[in-house]
Parts: sequence; C-alpha cells; structure tokens
Amino acid sequence: MSEDAVARIEGLKAEWPNNIGLQCFEAAYFVTLSEDGKARLLNCLNSGIENPDSEMGCYACQPSDYDDFKPFFSKVLARYHKVSEDTRHVNNWSLDGIEGLPADGVLDLARLGLPALSMRVRAGRNLKEFPLPGSMTKDDRIGLENKMMAAFEKLIARPDYGGRYHSLTPGNPCFIDDAAYQELVDQHIMFKNMDNDRYLTAAGIAADWPYGRGCYVSADKGFIIWVGEEDHLRIMCMQRGTVLNDVFDRLKSALDLVEGIEGLEFAYSDDYGAVTSCPTNLGTGMRASLHIQLPNLTSDGTDKRAKAIAKPLGLSVRGAGGEHTPIGEDGTVDISPSARFCITEAEIVASLYKAIALLVEEENKAA
Ligand code: ARG
Repeated sequence: MSEDAVARIEGLKAEWPNNIGLQCFEAAYFVTLSEDGKARLLNCLNSGIENPDSEMGCYACQPSDYDDFKPFFSKVLARYHKVSEDTRHVNNWSLDGIEGLPADGVLDLARLGLPALSMRVRAGRNLKEFPLPGSMTKDDRIGLENKMMAAFEKLIARPDYGGRYHSLTPGNPCFIDDAAYQELVDQHIMFKNMDNDRYLTAAGIAADWPYGRGCYVSADKGFIIWVGEEDHLRIMCMQRGTVLNDVFDRLKSALDLVEGIEGLEFAYSDDYGAVTSCPTNLGTGMRASLHIQLPNLTSDGTDKRAKAIAKPLGLSVRGAGGEHTPIGEDGTVDISPSARFCITEAEIVASLYKAIALLVEEENKAA
C-alpha cells in the first residue's frame, strides 16, 4: 500500500514543482520509517497530494511531528522560510535593540500620518496533550473544547477579561445558533465554516465540523481565542487605533496568562519554537496585521499592484475577509509581515510598522 503512495507522490512531484511538501518528499528517507511512521508522514502530506496546486502542501498532525520527521520537515522549512536546514528558532518579545524604530519604542501609526485602523495580532498555539487537528478524533475535539471552557472560567472571572464562550457544538451549554454564529463571522470575531476550505478538509483538520469549535470573546471584544480551527487555539487581540504596541503588549500578557492556567501546556519544539499545524506558521505562530485602504494601488479593482509592491517589503496582502478573500470595494486590504519563523515576535511587529511606512509612500505616489 505504501509502495502505491510513493509511486503516486513521485508522479505528482514531477508535475508540481511549486508544491513544497511533494518536492521535499524523498522515497529513500520514507522507506527507513516504521509502518506507523510511514502512515503518519503520509497523513501530513495528504492535503498536498489531494490539492497538488498547494504551495506548502503539508501539515503536521502530531505535536512531535516536526521533531520526529526532521529529515522531511527541515527541508520543508528551509525551502518555505528561506532558512538553512539546521536553523533554530528563538522567541523574543522585546523591542530593545531593533533598529529603525522611534526612540521611545512607541509604534504609533499616527506618526506615519495614518488614521485609526483595525489592528490585529494573533498567535497560533496547540496543547501538548492532544493530537494536532489533522489527527484528532471527534472525542479529542470535544475534550479539547471542554478543557478550554474550564480554563476560560478563569478569564471570565477577571474584571480585565470577562466576556463569555460561544460554542458551535450541539448540546454544549454555551451553544449558539446559526444566526448568532453568522453575526460573529460578520464581525470578524469567529472563523468561517472550515468545510469550505479544500486544504483543511483534505488534511483532516476540518473533520467533525462543527464539533469542538467555538470562541472565547472578552467583555470589550478586544481579546479573542478561537478553539478548534487550524490550530487548537488562535489567541488574538484586536483594536481600532494607531498604537501597535497596544495590541502587541496585550497579546503577550494574555498569552502568559493563558499558558499559566493549570493544566494547559503549549506544544513547543526545542529547535523550532511554537508548534503549529501548518509549517508556514511555525516558530512564532504570529501574524500581525492591519486593515488599510489603498485606493490608488487597488484602482484596477484587484490587489495585483499592491501585492507587487508589498512583496519586496516582506508584506503579504489579503482581502479584509481573511485568507483567500477578495479586496474590499473601497480598496481595503489586510496587510501583514509574511515572516513567522526564525524571526522574533518583536521583529514581526517592528517590521509591520517600518514596512507600512514605505507602502503608504508608494500609495501616495500612485495618486
Ligand atoms: N495548505 C495550503 C497550501 O499549502 C495553505 C497554506 C497556508 N495557509 C494556511 N492557512 N496555513 O497552499
């Protein structure tokens, strides 16, 4: 059976040069694995096999996959993140010593002439005790949600967090109906139905939808934790404003608080930092983004020009509705530094500030 799989992968490998998972698959390494190891590695590759047009083409399915299948994942990481195969990731949230920032360390977008914008910083995290979402059973998903609901009680009891948990799991005491769910999606608080994402379905990550899925929302709606999306947890701060430090610092203290709750242990790899399902997010698991109007760079109704200018600045452009969504009618786009791995958290937020300055210059020139 695994001979068939190898033949299929070798065939696809020749046809799809941009699929990183397929390109990094080596039969010579694969045959050295135990039967269980072979099945696990094939599981990681399934999304990229079913969707050969994938860019990354693989997901980790167990917290230890990056370490257990290092000969494979080190190549994947080197290729996608443009680092060496023996690289090590270091986490660091301190802005001290980062060049090109205002002397007082305040990353205020008003200094760049920008109005209040929707700012968001998120970090993907997974718990060590559960399989990653690609290998979870329905019971695992419900067990994870129940465990997190107990932890959220601690946040809900605090005056600086408060709020409540919303569950999509039928029968859950915090269950919300379709209309309430849709309202949260429209407010960009809750994630979309994962069954509509062919990469996540092929990876097994979307399985058992909507069981074990939900989100905690703080009383001021500025702090959110998704449960059961691509990672066990997506922990995020969002706010309309101009001072990036506000969302960044709040995320750091919230992460420390959640990680400090008894019984919650996040998965880390010694060499690779925070473990995430997708190798694109490994290390920091962090995405810092802004919603900004670029009417001049998007005057043709597409994000082509904005993307061409943003890419050399190290920025990714998405529609305001998230990954794989079109740009808004008014030229609103979601901008974020592309790097997540072998960069510190502080460098990510600093690079958003610095690169936005250059992007705004280009937008003004395009007037
Ligand atoms: N699996 C898709 C690919 O390989 C998406 C990867 C990045 N996006 C993500 N949500 N992890 O192209």
